[in-house]
Amino acid sequence: MRILCTGGAGFIGSHTCVELMAAGHDVIVVDNYVNSQPEALKRVEELAGRALKSYECDCADREAMNRVFDENEIDAVIHFAGLKAVGESVQQPLRYYRNNLDATLTLVEVMAAHGCKRIVFSSSATVYGVPDEVPLREDMFCKGCTNPYGWTKYMIEKILQDVHTADPEWSVVLLRYFNPIGAHESGRIGENPNGIPNNLMPYITRVAAGQLKQLSVFGSDYDTPDGTGVRDYIHVVDLARGHVDACAWAAANKGCEIINLGTGVGYSVLELVKAFERVNGIKVPYVIAPRRPGDVAACYADPAKAERVLGWRTEKTLDDMCRDAWRYQCQNPNGYNA
Ligand code: UD1
Repeated sequence: MRILCTGGAGFIGSHTCVELMAAGHDVIVVDNYVNSQPEALKRVEELAGRALKSYECDCADREAMNRVFDENEIDAVIHFAGLKAVGESVQQPLRYYRNNLDATLTLVEVMAAHGCKRIVFSSSATVYGVPDEVPLREDMFCKGCTNPYGWTKYMIEKILQDVHTADPEWSVVLLRYFNPIGAHESGRIGENPNGIPNNLMPYITRVAAGQLKQLSVFGSDYDTPDGTGVRDYIHVVDLARGHVDACAWAAANKGCEIINLGTGVGYSVLELVKAFERVNGIKVPYVIAPRRPGDVAACYADPAKAERVLGWRTEKTLDDMCRDAWRYQCQNPNGYNA
């Protein structure tokens, strides 16, 4: 298939491009590089051993998106593009709603105008809000998100469900990611957050590298086995493979499916820190700090539907995630900036 990846130069997008190309698909990327760099796509091509086509443009730019669809016979779209920083979304809600919703609405209108009716969307476990119970199943009712970023994901899920209801010819797959970490095992592509990282693994790798002094463990009094927060960490390459399977499903079926992509196993902050230290033989100094507002005690997936519908399950271990994240950090101490 010829697959358009919006936001294809980002962390999850770039790893997905590699897996799509390995599976024999042709990839076209649209990215405005607000939070990514063209260098990622050069490295994707190096890993895939062949070229992809890329456009520097914003999904909300209708004229540019029409050109992309006019110039390419696109079979399916994976929509990664969007702003994704939780804290920033609380400070700048209008920017988040405008950016994420506009991009999606324009993209889907342009797709419909060109008769392209297969879309896989990057949603997030954030749509579950504060869970009543874990593991989380796709049919569990969302009582509300805890931040504007999460609401944009929730609203886009709703928009795409409604698009399918109005026109059942559409194939829509809404992928709810748990906590993607790790990097490609080559160490060539990985996660490059702007400034000081908000998420746990990029923070750990920078502390281990000596770029940051110590990790603050946010809360040690949660109702979890060791008191620290529990999450479902998933290797980004397993996650990327889930998109290849979602595209195959969309090519063979019409419908609208919500699917969790997680391992089904939760690890605590301290378990992740200990695994990282053991696997890589390096210390990660940390202090216990107060809880971070908006965090939940435990969040992990029931991944049964992904296996049933897509035939997908994770293959990589927590040790793989720790090893690959550290290899990327060591090989790219300044990210893609040489
Ligand atoms: C957040 C978002 C999620 C998003 C994900 C990846 C919410 C509520 N969460 O997940 O939607 O998909 O990021 O971008 O919207 N921690 C520390 N110290 C740190 C950083 C984190 O102890 O310096 C702890 C947190 O308290 C948490 C765990 O590590 O228990 C994971 O945090 P993080 O990596 O930020 O991801 P989430 O908050 O789970």
